[in-house]
Amino acid sequence: MPFTPDDELELLFPAESIPQHVQAELPDGLHMRPLASSDYHRGHLSVLSVLTLVVDPGEQAYRAQFAALRGTPLTYYTLVIVDKATDRIVGVGTVFMERKFLRALGTVGHIEDIAVDKSQQGKKLGLRIIQALTTISERHGAYKTILNCSDANVPFYEKCGYVKKENEMAKYA
Ligand code: ACO
Repeated sequence: MPFTPDDELELLFPAESIPQHVQAELPDGLHMRPLASSDYHRGHLSVLSVLTLVVDPGEQAYRAQFAALRGTPLTYYTLVIVDKATDRIVGVGTVFMERKFLRALGTVGHIEDIAVDKSQQGKKLGLRIIQALTTISERHGAYKTILNCSDANVPFYEKCGYVKKENEMAKYA
């Protein structure tokens, strides 16, 4: 499939929010942009499957979810890295902005669902995704940006400038 430029896509948030200094550090042939409503057809879900089991909801439900996130402005920032040769997604990540009553009505960025296609791992794409999401979070005034990860991924996030703090608690329904 030929590469689709940003201005031909329905994007989750404005393309200008992608930090240029991070875009410039990507290897040749790769492009970082906001998630698009048509990314169901560019392998978004299959890239996420390196992270966990992914159940395909079907295109209609995928687009409805995209519309719901897009309809909540200044909150959901999911970005993708696209291989321009194939127009396929090779990396994804999200930062979700939480507005608080604490910290003088402060904001916290929550990084979620970071995944790089197996064939592209080890090329600093994960690092670029974290750098971009952290920049977006801080530009929104977040006083901190946080995430949960496995012990195996702690060294990766340390390379991205994050430090281990406290514990994660979970209760699954
Ligand atoms: N252990 C030790 N070091 C690591 C690891 C690891 N597991 N992963 C990456 N690194 C190091 C790299 O060697 C590199 O170090 P360098 O700067 O000294 O060369 C640095 O971290 C940056 O690595 P990248 O090349 O940017 O890593 P990559 O593009 O492969 O992405 C990621 C890392 C996202 C963890 C990828 O391997 C992946 O998709 N894994 C499967 C899914 C996953 O676990 N996602 C994270 C879940 S946590 C969350 O979503 C909040």
